[in-house]
Amino acid sequence: MSCSNGFEIVGMDPPDIKILRTVASREFGPDPTVTLSSGTCSADSLAIDGGIAFGPNAFVPLGPWRPVNQDDCRILYTDDASTPASIVAVVQLFTRAEMALFHESQCYGEVINRSAGVSPSDQFVNTLLDKLDRVIQFRNRPSFHGFASDPVGLHTVSYDESIGKYVGLHVDTWDGTPSGQRKDAKLRVCINIGEYSRFFIFLNRSVVGMYRASFGSEGDPNSLTPNEIGKAFLSRFPSYPIVRLEVHPGCAYVAPTENILHDGCTLDVPRPVYHTAFRGLLDYRS
Ligand SMILES: [Fe+2]
Repeated sequence: MSCSNGFEIVGMDPPDIKILRTVASREFGPDPTVTLSSGTCSADSLAIDGGIAFGPNAFVPLGPWRPVNQDDCRILYTDDASTPASIVAVVQLFTRAEMALFHESQCYGEVINRSAGVSPSDQFVNTLLDKLDRVIQFRNRPSFHGFASDPVGLHTVSYDESIGKYVGLHVDTWDGTPSGQRKDAKLRVCINIGEYSRFFIFLNRSVVGMYRASFGSEGDPNSLTPNEIGKAFLSRFPSYPIVRLEVHPGCAYVAPTENILHDGCTLDVPRPVYHTAFRGLLDYRS
């Protein structure tokens, strides 16, 4: 069903989730920080991640990862920031020099020592919000989700503590918004405060887009959960590429994680990287 670059599905609309084009990608063409998987596979079908346990019907990206080309870029990118719910962006908040100073500071040690115990009213949290305010505007005060790091060397990092297993590619379900209304759900802003790049991976179709591709234009997306729809899509289109974005230290990704299949990936991350997240409705500043 998929054509050459893997993103187009016969009889279906093109992907409805885009990467907001950065100045670097406009100036230099294909973005070296973006790579594409060869598709996805069942986490049960491969002996991966050193025997790490995945939950039922989990999917992970399938390598090798390849650089994007000009044809990919025409499908992947947009310059239009007017619909944040359909955009994934990487924004730079701190310069390399600022991050180097931060990593040598007492503040960094305190933050990673307290990690999840850092208060939303902490001065450093407010510094992050001030930096974010230069590029995005939250419509209401965002929720704060603490600081954390992920184990390295994993295809996907999200872990369900209730079952003690990794979940693989998934749609977030913080607010329980029905599948058909996920374009109205909050976005996630995740800032890399660590010393190495980390990687955000996602599939560039919305929950409704995956439902239409999997079940046709008739039917009600609300009849299934977002994760049931996502797993149906991955089962039907195993060669559909997953997009991997490199998020450098001092940068943040902004993504509609309640409306797309996604996860973090630490395969090429040498040491644990601390990050923090906010969730809210927002607009991009021009
Ligand atoms: Fe997630």
